[in-house]
Amino acid sequence: MESNTINRYTVTAALPYANGPVHIGHLAGCYIPADIYVRYLRLKGKDVLFVCGSDEHGIPITIKAKNESVSPQEVVDKYHAIMKNAFDAFGIDFDIYSRTSADIHKETASAFFLDLYKKGELIEKETEEFFDPEANEFLADRYIVGTCPSCSNPDAYGDQCEKCGKSLSPEELINPISKLSGAVPVKRKTVHWYIDLGKHQDEWLKQWIESKKGEWKSNVMGQCLSWMGEGENKLKPRAVTRDLKWGVPVPAEIPGHEGKMLYVWFDAPIGYISATKDFFNKKANQKPQWVKGNSWEDYWAEGKTNLIHFIGKDNIVFHCIIFPSMLKSFGNLTLPANVPANEFLNLEGDKISTSRNWAVWLHEYLQDMPGREDELRYVLTANMPETKDNDFIWKYDGTDNTTDSFQARVNNELVNNLGNFVNRVMVLIHKFNDGKIPVSNPLYVMPEEDELYSFSETQIELISSKIENFEFRAALSEIMKLSSAGNKFLQVAEPWKTYKKNPQAALQSLLVGARLTNALAILIAPFLPHTSKKLAIALNLNELSWISLKDKSYMHISGSLNPLELLFKKVEENEISVQLEKLETNRKQGSISTQTQKKELISPSKPEIQFDDFSKIDIRIGTIIHAEKVPKADKLLKLSVNTGIDTRTILSGIAEHFTPEEVIGKQVTVLVNLAPRKMRGIESQGMILMAEDADGKLVFVKSETMINPGSEVR
Ligand code: 2FM
Ligand code: ZN
Repeated sequence: MESNTINRYTVTAALPYANGPVHIGHLAGCYIPADIYVRYLRLKGKDVLFVCGSDEHGIPITIKAKNESVSPQEVVDKYHAIMKNAFDAFGIDFDIYSRTSADIHKETASAFFLDLYKKGELIEKETEEFFDPEANEFLADRYIVGTCPSCSNPDAYGDQCEKCGKSLSPEELINPISKLSGAVPVKRKTVHWYIDLGKHQDEWLKQWIESKKGEWKSNVMGQCLSWMGEGENKLKPRAVTRDLKWGVPVPAEIPGHEGKMLYVWFDAPIGYISATKDFFNKKANQKPQWVKGNSWEDYWAEGKTNLIHFIGKDNIVFHCIIFPSMLKSFGNLTLPANVPANEFLNLEGDKISTSRNWAVWLHEYLQDMPGREDELRYVLTANMPETKDNDFIWKYDGTDNTTDSFQARVNNELVNNLGNFVNRVMVLIHKFNDGKIPVSNPLYVMPEEDELYSFSETQIELISSKIENFEFRAALSEIMKLSSAGNKFLQVAEPWKTYKKNPQAALQSLLVGARLTNALAILIAPFLPHTSKKLAIALNLNELSWISLKDKSYMHISGSLNPLELLFKKVEENEISVQLEKLETNRKQGSISTQTQKKELISPSKPEIQFDDFSKIDIRIGTIIHAEKVPKADKLLKLSVNTGIDTRTILSGIAEHFTPEEVIGKQVTVLVNLAPRKMRGIESQGMILMAEDADGKLVFVKSETMINPGSEVR
């Protein structure tokens, strides 16, 4: 950082989709690292602007609105507020938290597109796109599901496979179907605009990415380079518009704009720029002192700033390839100086999943564990998935495997190490010196005191360099080593004992404790802002500054202490049980099976039958291609099932378990030679067979690849 000649920073954190609340994976993946980095820069007196906001376009939002029978605007209003509250509570201190449904964003994104169009940077192409002949709509990539060509996940979306992370286009899916109606999509002609990524790759992009080797994280470099092959594998033109109803409209100046919206991944990153404009529109007269620039251009013009994007690994391609190409096409805008993407956080050994409700939701945590915000920040930083996926677990069971659990880290590291050190110093200064920080007395300096100072110096350097290198876990661990050293010093000096015989020596050792507490108050400020504030109040510090660590002015602490608010509280068994029970309930409601549940599933065997009875049964694999509710029948879904032999109507009593949208595309076993029978005036031509667990949860056929409909089950 110091070698860099540009002294300004524009820090962004990925705009979260406003289609649901945020969870611990989001915090650990991008918001905590971004906040740590920004707080550090501010403490160093750097010029920095920290922007974020809600990503309010995109198909997941329209899907949610459709499922909940509300407007997309209602969906985003609700989640924008929930997310903003959660970020505030955890001290994620954005200078502005904007939103992409704001007018300023629509204007900015629209003007950006028009600029690229006028410069001839966009290719106009007529293509045939997937169209749902039943719903009479073009199908957004997300509305098409099928099998991933790369990993054979049968539930891949037309834009991305969530299993292997591969970015896809609908054409690449095997056996695509529409999520809207279950119809097999047909191709229709439509015109769209594309950004020519291959041209960018050749002209500058590949070279630019390669120039970041050694500087950017290796997980990020690896992904970027894997995208830019040669010949066939070169980057392809990427469509930046869609036939949609919710989004930023293609500017009216452009012929053929009717019914077209900007692709969400075109407008979302421009959201960083519009959030910057939003900041200067709203806060120009009440800027915090660290925002030294005066206009949005100061934070976006080429050569004026270091642009740092904090994101999760699923966003790498958009921030390292597509958005830079857009910025380059626009011209005179800065490209990212770094994109320190994190890997994913898992929860109790399983992938965090919104659909399975396998997550620790921040708004729920805030209710369940009030006052423990910094504790979660601590644990998520200590376990941050910086170089590989990492796991969050709640409970410490005394084994080595659980020493990085929430409970162990809070109790052993925060309560017993940091909290204990600071408390002892504060309590003893109150007790022995009436709350006044002792004045230095060189006669009583122990050799251990000087050793502690020199260790502090080493640690301060190390912590700075780790933060600058985006190694936040390591930085935090080095801070904790310093606190441990403080505890060891107290164990040697034993002021609580020494005071009786040698009060001067005891007071000198407490002065050392106060100095180290002062240093710690600053060092933890990026990581544990609430705790740092409590320390600053107790020590009567008006302002914290990293400079005082470097020039050692933190050593000159003096004056009276204020009472110290409780820093950390031991995490009790019952608190952990509540969280684990909650997860267990979710696990049962979701589709994760455990050994215990598998046991519960087993019901006693039915009476014996002869082979002849069995051989009469014809069971095949079928794919559900259409589903709808049966009016006035709460339990029934009317399904169209491709059995391989034919496509037939089957009524199934699964409506209480699944919505029609959820079953379309799923594979099931079908009893195909059951005599037809009429229900509610509809003839059902067979029966769907599904496994049912102890809680009545039904399970579809799961396979690595789609099974050919008509395959016999024997
Ligand atoms: O993955 C996501 O949650 C996206 N909403 C991130 C967008 S980041 C930026 F480009 F706006
Ligand atoms: Zn895949």
